[in-house]
Amino acid sequence: MAANPATAIFKVTLKEQIHIDKLPKHIAIIMDGNGRWAKQKGMIRAFGHENGTKAVREAVESASEIGIEFLTLYAFSTENWNRPKLEVQTLMKLLVSSLKKEISTLQDNNIKLSTIGNINALPVSAKKELLEVVEKTKDNNRMTLTLALSYGSREEITNALKEISLKVKNNIISPENIDESVIIEHLYTQNLPDVDLLVRTSGEQRISNFLLWQIAYAELYFTEILWPDFTKNHLYEAILNYQQRERRFGKTSEQIK
Ligand code: FPP
Repeated sequence: MAANPATAIFKVTLKEQIHIDKLPKHIAIIMDGNGRWAKQKGMIRAFGHENGTKAVREAVESASEIGIEFLTLYAFSTENWNRPKLEVQTLMKLLVSSLKKEISTLQDNNIKLSTIGNINALPVSAKKELLEVVEKTKDNNRMTLTLALSYGSREEITNALKEISLKVKNNIISPENIDESVIIEHLYTQNLPDVDLLVRTSGEQRISNFLLWQIAYAELYFTEILWPDFTKNHLYEAILNYQQRERRFGKTSEQIK
């Protein structure tokens, strides 16, 4: 039977509501809540992390489908090394298995993988796999997916200061020439633009030493969703929320209009 156009209901999806000309260029996500998600199900924390990798896929697919240029995920912080040894091992194993599994998806979708953080601190197998995928995907240009691994923003800024001081000492830079661009060039994120939208899941409302310099003017979005439950629609909701905000960068509302 032919559908009656007068009664047909056209449901506009969240994705369709997004203004493609007003997309955040760089989205960063603090993926939080794997442990609580597992606990709610009476399972061990590793189960939460395993399911967290599915949410990583959802976030990567939705971001690249919609045309986000840069997606940065906080996968492992410098502070996470203090977790129980077994949990750290599980996270490193998941990283290696996910990289092995997803390399073809990255290639098929023209996604470049990059990393920020002290990857020398990672187990040899994880570092090797990571560098291999970074190398294989280096010419992809649809979206840059950056994994923050053994990453800490204070460590990043401290390292930048050390490098700049050394250059001053060796007369490569003079102190009066140090400006914001010099600092940016010495951060792990030298090839990434500032963050436009920072998302944190699980209801926690803090930054946890993530991209402190780079989020200076980011819009912050906190959701109660636990990371393993995060789906494409949750990312679209965050983007829609972002698009309703007025970014003034210190100016007045009238100046923006
Ligand atoms: C936070 O949840 C999550 C992490 C510390 C790790 C995130 C890792 C993954 C999603 C899996 C592997 C990642 C990749 C990129 C393949 P939590 O453990 O702090 O949760 P809780 O606050 O509820 O305890």
